[in-house]
Order: sequence, then structure tokens, then C-alpha cells
Amino acid sequence: MTRIFRLDASIRGEASVSRALSDTLLETLTSELGDVASVTRRDLAADPVPPTAWSLAANAGFVPEEQRTAEQVDAVAYARTLADEAAAADVLIIGAPFYNFGVSQHTKAWLDILITDSRFAPGTQPGAGKTALLVASRGGGYSEGTPRYGWDHGTPWLVRIFRDVFGYETEIIETELTLAEHTPAMAHLVDLAKEHRARAHEAAAEHGKRVAAIYTDAAAA
Ligand SMILES: Cc1cc2nc3c(=O)[nH]c(=O)nc-3n(C[C@H](O)[C@H](O)[C@H](O)COP(=O)(O)O)c2cc1C
Repeated sequence: MTRIFRLDASIRGEASVSRALSDTLLETLTSELGDVASVTRRDLAADPVPPTAWSLAANAGFVPEEQRTAEQVDAVAYARTLADEAAAADVLIIGAPFYNFGVSQHTKAWLDILITDSRFAPGTQPGAGKTALLVASRGGGYSEGTPRYGWDHGTPWLVRIFRDVFGYETEIIETELTLAEHTPAMAHLVDLAKEHRARAHEAAAEHGKRVAAIYTDAAAA
């Protein structure tokens, strides 16, 4: 049975581009997998990691269990819940909206506390044999040759964590220039933005089919 975990972090609700792309990806994946998929979702905008949870859980790691404060015990239990959700899944869909030239604070907080759980500690490779699909959405343009090439400090960091630290087979589905339709100075980029977005939805569907085929074949073998 293929288990899917979907993380959303966009603060933009219905207007979110990363959520729309993750919808396409998830819908394709689940319809291709048929009734074999279970889906767990966590929405960090609706349910953010509490601000003190990470420092409490991280410091608890240096304290013998019997000496932990009640707050540390609660934070460790919360970290375990988040780690349970991610560890149980074969496929992760990670919505990655781009804010202030990096990942959302919600995503950073989620990853920080996830890593306090021993199953996600660096060196443990919790993603070996599993798949992570990063769904990145950026308002501006950051491709090679543009003035802000090199300013995307979000996507490369996520790839570093999911592929290199956790060991997931990691792919990126991405779009950019999403601010064009709402920013007069970017009016000349609206058509290009629409093209990018349409291609990203196509890529999301392609990855959904590709990943579903991997897990369907594995189940049949
Ligand atoms: C608070 C905030 C900060 C943002 N910062 C940036 C930024 O630094 N660079 C950029 O290109 N776009 C920025 N954007 C635009 C987002 O990248 C864009 O809206 C993207 O579609 C976000 O994904 P989402 O639609 O899923 O929320 C920002 C948007 C918000 C709401």
C-alpha cells in the first residue's frame, strides 16, 4: 500500500500556486494508484509549529529523559507526531512557497523540529528507497541570466535536506514569475508566467504518473 504525505506551507490560501500544483500532483498520483493510496496531510499555515517547540525539543535531546521538563516532554512528543507522519510515507509532496528569498518560516520550523527526532537525524537516511516531490512556487524570476540568478535560497536548501541529508529520491516541480499578474512592473511577463505555470502543472501530472508507476510495479513484483 502506497502511503502519501502532503505538506502545505503557503500562507496565500486559495490564491496559492504551490497548493494548486500539489493538487494536480496528488490527484494524478492517487487516481493512477487507484485505491492503494493512503494520504496524510499537514497544513502548516493553518496549524503552524508552535514557536517554542523546536528549542524545547532540541534542548531535550541533551537532557536525560527523567530530567526533562513537562514542556520538553510535550515538545518531544509533538516532534514524534510530525516524524511519524513523514516516516510512514513512501511519497512526500512538499509544497514550497518562496518567501523573502528562502523557504517559508513554517517549512523551516517543521524541518527543524523533524530533525530533532532520531529517525530524521543527519546520517540516518530516512528517505532511502522513498520519494520526495518538492513543489516550488516563486513570485519573481531566478533563472540563469536574470538579474536575480542565485537569489533563490529556498529550493537548493530543500534539495540539500531531502536528497542529501534524508536520502529521498528527490524531484522538483517548480514555477516562477507568479507575481507577474499582480505586479504592474511585471506586466510584460504575464504570458511567460502563464506558460511556466501550465508547464508546471504538466510536470506535476507527469511526476504523478511516473511515481505511481514505480509504486504500482513494486507492489506487483
Ligand atoms: C510574504 C511574502 C514574501 C514573498 N517574498 C518573495 C521573494 O522574496 N521573492 C519572490 O520572488 N517572491 C516572493 N513572494 C511571492 C511568492 O513567491 C509567490 O506568491 C509564490 O507564488 C508563493 O507560493 P504560493 O503561491 O504557494 O504561496 C512573496 C510572497 C509573500 C506573500
